[in-house]
Amino acid sequence: MALSQATELLLASTVFCLVFWVVRAWQPWVPKGLKSPPGPWGWPLLGHVLTLGKNPHLVLARLSQRYGDVLQIRIGSTPVLVLSGLDTIRQALVQQGDDFKGRPDLYSFTLITDGHSMTFSPDSGPVWAARRRLAQNALNTFSIASDPASSSSCYLEDHVREEAEALISRLQEQMAEVGSFDPYNQVVLSVAKVIGAMCFGQRFPKESEEMISIIRNTHDFVESAISTNPVDFFPILQYFPTPALQRFKAFNQKFVQFLQKIIQEHYQDFDENSIQDITGALLKHCKKGSRANGSHIPREKIVSLINDIFGAGLDTVTTAISWSLMYLVKNPEKQRKIQEELDTVIGRARQPQLSDRLQLPYLEAFILEIFRHSSFVPFNLPRSTTRDTTLNGFYIPRKHFVFINQWQVNHDQKVWGDPFEFRPERFLTADGTAINKTLSEKVMIFGLGKRRCIGEVLAKWEIFLFLAILLQQLEFSVPAGVKVDLTPIYGLTMKHPRCEHVQARPRFSIK
Ligand code: HEM
Repeated sequence: MALSQATELLLASTVFCLVFWVVRAWQPWVPKGLKSPPGPWGWPLLGHVLTLGKNPHLVLARLSQRYGDVLQIRIGSTPVLVLSGLDTIRQALVQQGDDFKGRPDLYSFTLITDGHSMTFSPDSGPVWAARRRLAQNALNTFSIASDPASSSSCYLEDHVREEAEALISRLQEQMAEVGSFDPYNQVVLSVAKVIGAMCFGQRFPKESEEMISIIRNTHDFVESAISTNPVDFFPILQYFPTPALQRFKAFNQKFVQFLQKIIQEHYQDFDENSIQDITGALLKHCKKGSRANGSHIPREKIVSLINDIFGAGLDTVTTAISWSLMYLVKNPEKQRKIQEELDTVIGRARQPQLSDRLQLPYLEAFILEIFRHSSFVPFNLPRSTTRDTTLNGFYIPRKHFVFINQWQVNHDQKVWGDPFEFRPERFLTADGTAINKTLSEKVMIFGLGKRRCIGEVLAKWEIFLFLAILLQQLEFSVPAGVKVDLTPIYGLTMKHPRCEHVQARPRFSIK
């Protein structure tokens, strides 16, 4: 009896020591004086994948209330750092920008332009920096910089004015024929033509079936290009592709082929003395870039940069304008206020222009509140650390996966007081005549630091001008009894549920 008890005791302590050893061996090494970020207990093999559910931004915001701004979870066996709180995120992405500027090496990202994307590839060294500078310069030159051949302030203004008028005509046709419309399907065509004109000038196809089918299916991209895609954490899933992953692959292939064709045509009649668009600027650079300083880009790689610019410029701006129309029909009194401001400042005799922005603070405040309240880009694109570092006293090793919860920043009770109220007025100064700049800088939707969005100014101007022109002329509504559902559908960009019942009526007779 005593012998068997002793054997049991020995066995139990051996098992205990073994478990203790395994647990210790699993714990990452942490330098003396520092600690690992805290986080909830996770299942072996699965980690927190089930906890994250369908709305990871909401779950992680809740967890940050318990564990703080720097917390750690695991997806599968990959540890993921989750950052919340504007001060902590600024510290990481701005003050320690070089440490946090990497992108993780993900399977799903290799499916985007064969892994050559500037935005989604893991490179964050001098070649990425040179490509980013090049993309930024070409983008600025053919969007927000002034167009010497036109009376408008810049290329963007020219394109948006033309497309906003065309959109108004299409909406009126839809109203006459069907009596209502789905705003997303209408807006996406207009935004595609604006970014298409900046990327390709006259060569962008006017209304081909191929183009329309691609631009109406960007959800095949955004549903899978998410920070929490299981295929990136459980490699075995690559061999059992889900329908969503197959749609993602097919979309990427079609998109690249479509862009490649236009770029090829462009190359055929390329004249380096007459550069009219972003593709032309990039092709010219291919000729003169130097291999020595990493700024040379082979011609085949142009398609990946155009893919980054066209894709980002299409989906995000469409989503923002489409959300705006939904909030307008849900909040008719806010719509009236914007229109009163437009009537007072601009009247009806001329079209709004970009230089009116400062005189239209309520419209600006409305757009900021759309960004904040919908937070339709809930996370930055995933980041990774480029070297061992520390944050708020926690040790974070090199190549560590990082999520940045923009949704949490935009709904932080401490900053906003009533984060769930849709209240554009919060962004106005006390006398209501200007934007409260300090508060507006607390909205986080374009990321921060070294990877901050390169299209931020263009996007803000484009959304402003589209909305100003549309709202000067049209009043948007839904018929009585139609419920407008604004529950976001999670993705890289979150969409509102589709609604086919939106209506638009002219506010005055248009000549
Ligand atoms: C409302 C509209 C937009 C929103 C909310 C938005 C948001 C973002 C966010 C959150 C990121 C990731 C930043 C990070 O990792 O910290 C990003 C990156 C990027 N955006 Fe935007 N974006 C918008 C419009 C645009 C437009 C119009 C363009 C170009 C035409 C553009 C081009 C890019 C590119 C190329 C990157 C990758 C930068 C890099 O990896 O270095 N975006 N954007």
